[in-house]
Amino acid sequence: MTESTLGVGILGAGPVTQAIHLPTLARLREVFHVARIMDVDPAIAQSVAGRVGAAWTTDVDELLADDEVQIVVVCSPHQFHAEQVIAACRAGKRAVLCEKPFAMTQTEAEQIAAVSTETRVPIIVGAMHTFDPGWIAAKENWGDLVETAHTIRYTIVLPPNARYEDFATEVITRPVWPPRDPTDPEVAAEMIRGNIMGLAIHDLPLVRVFCPDFTDLEVLSSQVLSPSGYLVNLRVGDRNVQVHGAHSSSWRPEWTFEAIADDASLRVDFAPSYVQAGSAIAQLRRGDSTEVYGPYRANGYEAEWRYLAALARGAAEPLDVTVLIDDLTFALDVADQASEYVRTALTTTQGAHA
Ligand SMILES: NC(=O)c1ccc[n+]([C@@H]2O[C@H](COP(=O)([O-])OP(=O)(O)OC[C@H]3O[C@@H](n4cnc5c(N)ncnc54)[C@H](O)[C@@H]3O)[C@@H](O)[C@H]2O)c1
Repeated sequence: MTESTLGVGILGAGPVTQAIHLPTLARLREVFHVARIMDVDPAIAQSVAGRVGAAWTTDVDELLADDEVQIVVVCSPHQFHAEQVIAACRAGKRAVLCEKPFAMTQTEAEQIAAVSTETRVPIIVGAMHTFDPGWIAAKENWGDLVETAHTIRYTIVLPPNARYEDFATEVITRPVWPPRDPTDPEVAAEMIRGNIMGLAIHDLPLVRVFCPDFTDLEVLSSQVLSPSGYLVNLRVGDRNVQVHGAHSSSWRPEWTFEAIADDASLRVDFAPSYVQAGSAIAQLRRGDSTEVYGPYRANGYEAEWRYLAALARGAAEPLDVTVLIDDLTFALDVADQASEYVRTALTTTQGAHA
């Protein structure tokens, strides 16, 4: 810690804090120091804070009352994000980073936006790929692809998170998921919703960039994949969009975003969440020529933290909160329609065989 580094307070000290944010902050010691860590589990709070020489607590208010905490990072489970972001804004902190999703309902998102505007505390959401230097370079060079792309394909094939968490650090505890029956319509609908709001949501803001008319959205088909995953086909305005994710034991992880037009295409290859291996690599193809951007040294997490520092110091323009609300509206609409599609399809099939 130095006089000039920004003090960070973290709410929730689970795997994302341990295996993603603390390793990122360790590379940014000239910018930040971790001042205090809060978790409802005292053993986790104490142990994780001990790794970085920070104070610890089990009480949100105690962390927010700490003057050394200038930036608040919300890494608790989804359902606590909205209330904790609002409390951090009300506490007059300099900036807030909320892990995705930043809310679970449209109403919560609008409440956050109103409080952020009123208190003038800037908020960013941890959709790290939107900050990734490879994606940003592609954006600056893709010309009219947003207008011309007709097909968007976004696919994730990864080993389970635990494999990456264990590469990155020794995670203290992790949730145990009981086995679920994907042939039960209600369970399947909940699995699809959980996957969209938990995993696919990472790059739905990227999909939305290519779907300007995102309110005209129709889920054409939706499936739960075995042993774990989702496949959703959408029509958004006049664009065809495929959103696919699967957990498997495949040796080579894949996380790609593609936008395809008649005469040009973009393919962006991202590193898996926990892998601190530099930026995405973006390839823009037009006719016979291919332009390649990246990999750059910094990944999306590092870029998001640097932007957060600039916001906290008043050296960058805050994001337009309506963009964050629109991103969430889009994700909720995809999740609602996709889960309803699965529920109806399974109920109908089972009714026909009864
Ligand atoms: N950006 C990314 O790449 C990325 C990756 C993984 C997870 N995430 C997000 O980060 C968040 C946390 O995920 P996680 O993987 O660490 O797992 P998690 O949700 O299982 O762990 C969260 C931690 O929060 C603690 N907790 C529970 N209730 C709390 C509360 N009310 N206040 C504070 N802490 C509380 C738990 O004890 C646990 O230690 C999730 O919202 C998830 O979507 C983001």
